[in-house]
Amino acid sequence: MKSVQGRITLNRREARNTYRMRVAFEPFPARVDAGQFIHVRALPSEWDPLLRRPFSIMDAGEEGGNVSSWDLLYLVQGRVSGLMTEMQPGARLDVLGPLGHGYRPVPDAGRHLLVGGGVGVPPLYFLARQLLSRHQVAADRVVALVGARSADLLACVDDFRALGIPVRVSTDDGTAFEKGRVTDLMRREARPGDAIYTCGPEGMLHAVVALARDLQLSCQVSVERNMGCGLGACKTCVVDMRVPPGAPPKYRTTCREGPVFDAGDLP
Ligand code: FES
Repeated sequence: MKSVQGRITLNRREARNTYRMRVAFEPFPARVDAGQFIHVRALPSEWDPLLRRPFSIMDAGEEGGNVSSWDLLYLVQGRVSGLMTEMQPGARLDVLGPLGHGYRPVPDAGRHLLVGGGVGVPPLYFLARQLLSRHQVAADRVVALVGARSADLLACVDDFRALGIPVRVSTDDGTAFEKGRVTDLMRREARPGDAIYTCGPEGMLHAVVALARDLQLSCQVSVERNMGCGLGACKTCVVDMRVPPGAPPKYRTTCREGPVFDAGDLP
């Protein structure tokens, strides 16, 4: 983990209210796992001066053990993200990362099913890329299941396709691809022995976890929480853990002990 000053080299619209940004910086040695995140602050700050914003990593430029850029996908939903859309190539950002714990690919999985919804899809794209390159998994054993409320909110579909892996897509309203939920795709695609990795809106995550339990499949979940420090100190990001009946409650910090958890550890 390192704090670097980077410069924006890309900031383009990818879907409705959804932008992709690339920040390049002086390379430094780091191992980056899909599912980890970065904490970003603009320089000079037009944002809240004290607060960084967490973003999941959509991709990282990597050369021989050094990391040289971060790609992130962000949803325009407030003042800060609105300001981000106006940032031009060359603008400076202060970025801290990589932070947290990412996905842990299951070595003996039959196939790796990546189940994503809306703006939760980017870390799964990064995971697909790492499964193919770092873990040498055959392309037909990595399957992307992508859902969104409507066609204009779909993200990363072309990126997944460019990897040469099977991609299944659904929209809740049927404006493109199949009409239905991403869990419908998962129910149809999943086979015994597959491993599930998921990220997306909270309601979707609950449905994916319930279905994975139903199908007795291993499942790793990226949990999203508001974050203050991103370093395990402020405890604004805690998440409940599953405990036996009668046992005292147990909490974990999403920023330091997550954001990816085994579904079996969640309530
Ligand atoms: Fe501060 Fe997680 S954001 S403890």
